[in-house]
Amino acid sequence: MNKTFISFILFVGGLLVFHYGIFPIFMPKEPTLFLNRYVCFLLMAAYLIIVNLTLRLKPPISLNALMVWCLGFYFYKFVLFPPVPWTLFITYMMLWSIGTFLYISQDAETFREFRKPIVKVIVGEYKLARLVIFALLPFLVGFGTYTAIYPKFEEPVELRTVHPAPPATTKVHGKSYVLETARNPFRIDEQDNYQDKFPFLDADKYPYMKNVTEGGTVFFQNCHYCHGDQLNGLGMFSHVFNPTPANFIDPGTIAMLRESFLFWRVSKGGPGLPNESTPWSSAMPPWEEHLNTEEIWKVILFEYWYTGWHPRTFDTEESYVGQWEKEGKPAGAH
Ligand code: HEC
Repeated sequence: MNKTFISFILFVGGLLVFHYGIFPIFMPKEPTLFLNRYVCFLLMAAYLIIVNLTLRLKPPISLNALMVWCLGFYFYKFVLFPPVPWTLFITYMMLWSIGTFLYISQDAETFREFRKPIVKVIVGEYKLARLVIFALLPFLVGFGTYTAIYPKFEEPVELRTVHPAPPATTKVHGKSYVLETARNPFRIDEQDNYQDKFPFLDADKYPYMKNVTEGGTVFFQNCHYCHGDQLNGLGMFSHVFNPTPANFIDPGTIAMLRESFLFWRVSKGGPGLPNESTPWSSAMPPWEEHLNTEEIWKVILFEYWYTGWHPRTFDTEESYVGQWEKEGKPAGAH
């Protein structure tokens, strides 16, 4: 048998054996210094060099180039972890291809050698290869076109209302609250008077900061797992939820909501959401089951204090929302 052919078979066979047989062994749950995917890759490269040298196969430069190129492809596609985005993958592969091309074209001699088999296939000296390649090519192109234009059936998009219209009243711990008029009993900080104070440090000096501190304690005992210790919605459990926990720093959440709205949301959580908000189920727990009313108002106070946002109010003169109250609320606004 032709030596080039043996070398080719050893390459393809070796790649399959490494990929399906040996690679999984080198991917334990917790990789060690020796049992990891990169060592496996190095072993595969070593295997190729060793069999070709010991069997004195001397593969021609075109086969060498093919093997080197495939090893690069294999590395970026399957070995490198975490996987790179496809744009980066294309960039790396382009660099790798340029490198391979430089290798084959280092001088006129190697380049001629590289071209030789290709030319032979095209002009018909390798009859069988030419037959196979020219028969396969139209099929491959046809298959590629077929898969590209075959319609894909995707799930219909389900829209979720993030801030649904709240109910008129909500009952928490046996008491009914009218959301239009309910206020945070602990709010006295309308003018940013306490923005430079620190909860926990200034708690004894200012009654307001005492309430913020207690709200902070409630937050770090209950909420930061999801909403994050910087209130940015990136808590340690946040990544498993869809919808993800609200990011209170974002101007689109508490900054545009009224405290009574938050009171309703915190008390009733995901289960208390109306239908239009529930194509997926929100993981937000109904906190009335674990916190008393005061704790709920205080944790809301803390969220506003920490982020520096002001709750939306309906009664200031500048507020255009205030005008709605006089003229009637436009449909869809809350
Ligand atoms: C199990 C994870 C989890 C915990 C713990 C949690 N939340 Fe949530 N929270 C969510 C998710 C998910 C959302 C977004 C979906 C939604 O609006 O219900 C959310 C939404 C909210 C919203 C609505 C924000 C908006 O823009 O409408 C508020 C307010 C809120 N959480 C406050 C709290 C408070 C206060 C606590 C602690 C007492 C808390 N959350 C604890 C998961 C959690």
